[in-house]
Amino acid sequence: MEHDVLIVGAGLAGTWAAVIAAQQGVRDVAVLSKIHPLRSHSGAAQGGIAAALGNVRPVPGSGPRGPLEATPANAEPADSWELHMFDTIKGSDWLGDQDAIEILVKDALDVLYTYEKMGCVFSRTADGRIAQRRFGGHQAPRANYAADRTGHVLLHTIHEQALRHGVHFYSEWYVMDLIVEENICRGVVAMNVLDGSIHTMRAKAVLFATGGYGRAFQITSNAYANTGDGVAIAYRNGVPLMDMEFVQFHPTGLYRHGILMSEACRGEGGYLLNSAGERFMQNYAADKMELAPRDLVSRSEQTEIDEGRGVMADKQGIYLDLRHLGAERILAKLPEVRQIAIDFVGADPITDLVPIQPTAHYSMGGIPTDVNGRVLANAAGDWVQGFFAAGECACVSVHGANRLGSNSLLEASVFGRRAGYAIAEYVLGGAQQQAVAGDPAEANRQRVHKLFRNEGELAEQILVELRQTMTNKCGIYRTAEKLAEAQREIQGYQERMKTARVMDKSGRFNTDLLAALEAEHLVLFSEAIVAGALARTESRGAHSRVDFKTRDDEQWLKHTLAQRNGRSGLALSYKPVTIDYEKYPPQKRQY
Ligand code: FUM
Repeated sequence: MEHDVLIVGAGLAGTWAAVIAAQQGVRDVAVLSKIHPLRSHSGAAQGGIAAALGNVRPVPGSGPRGPLEATPANAEPADSWELHMFDTIKGSDWLGDQDAIEILVKDALDVLYTYEKMGCVFSRTADGRIAQRRFGGHQAPRANYAADRTGHVLLHTIHEQALRHGVHFYSEWYVMDLIVEENICRGVVAMNVLDGSIHTMRAKAVLFATGGYGRAFQITSNAYANTGDGVAIAYRNGVPLMDMEFVQFHPTGLYRHGILMSEACRGEGGYLLNSAGERFMQNYAADKMELAPRDLVSRSEQTEIDEGRGVMADKQGIYLDLRHLGAERILAKLPEVRQIAIDFVGADPITDLVPIQPTAHYSMGGIPTDVNGRVLANAAGDWVQGFFAAGECACVSVHGANRLGSNSLLEASVFGRRAGYAIAEYVLGGAQQQAVAGDPAEANRQRVHKLFRNEGELAEQILVELRQTMTNKCGIYRTAEKLAEAQREIQGYQERMKTARVMDKSGRFNTDLLAALEAEHLVLFSEAIVAGALARTESRGAHSRVDFKTRDDEQWLKHTLAQRNGRSGLALSYKPVTIDYEKYPPQKRQY
């Protein structure tokens, strides 16, 4: 099978890249997705997409958490890309690359208006502009939203454009491998889930937009599909992974389920309460309160829980209180969140407290790229020719050690779009279809046959244990002792995976087999999360070491690269952070 461009993943990043490549004149663009494209995880992002449009501002004199009004037409804009840039750098705990962040926040404006012109159904201010709300760590209300289904409407909007431009979708095809020879990417190996057939798919350019890896943890807001396949496949093929130790825990996952209760709940004015009914954030971030950045709020919740002030029978929850917002506002702005709370824990936010807990939400780390989505082979910045990545599986890096809410839909759109232009330039500039040595599909068929032949334990059991390890030993608070235990346990899981089996040995729609292949990926890349976390003897952003409580810029203001070196296993190296020391020098991060 052959295409000019093969994009793996149909979320915002992948679909933007496909649209732009096709629009630029690449004739044969295909997108491969292991689930239906419109079930991609971008659609689960609820609260907003950041862009400093300045459409709304706090009502003058009402204070930083007071009501918002549309910015009067003759008034100074209430926000700027410069402010957005500073907030993102500070949010990243200075680990974000500032050249990439500048592109992110400047392109944001055009991306938003492009969505609008494509017909995206944003919520509106009274005078008809795109509505905006507050999000944590942002100094201005700049999360542009469509009620609490923002990712959903953005995804539908860009998907329509892909259909319009004749992009071909392989729906329910699972990527199994990447074909890279002599540092040139030549295609992928993929399985048609419907009949189990495995194919070599050659392409002049391949983009991975395969999403995050939250499914390595027990409690997560991530969809079942978010098993870090692209990240693992790149890693297995010798591509380094960057900053994997930085995993974001969202403060408001639904208790026990982890399902996202959007940050919009707090943006609209929701409170967090401990078992004594206190708004405990006053003890951790008295100015920002519930709208401090996610790393800080999640740590505060975990501290309340660890010190015995949690709620529910096991004291592992916290209450989200929206009751004071009133039915009208909840129904207009948070309808999905309300329904999820009713369906999953039987609590109606209009009348009830909603139990929540921190939930693994976002992967700051991933496949290292330049600002055009080109995948980097090493710290020197050499490109794996023909191989691109964008969105959550990539690390460009705009989020550094901690992402601000609403910057991820933006990152996927901005850098997916940029990758689309870079791919078009590469392909239209004369890139050739490359020969492939041997039969990569056959090697992957053997991988499946081995899973069918194995007689060890079920792959699923290993995964259950991996998630316990990652949650208990590499979660919100970390220590050398626990991380070292996690490292040993992961090595054990990798050994056990070699003989793991599946129950279903059929060809058609074998989800048991898919889960086992995903499990192989999860146990593989988890080693990079833990190794990076163990080595990084400081606390920065979402990486919080109880035994090294402060940020250490002298030693650790650098990106981690974790690379597999054949038989010798994992090696760590480091790469400098791009910082404009004149404009945005590192500062103490306080809220
Ligand atoms: O909380 C939310 O609505 C999620 C948004 C995000 O992760 O950017």
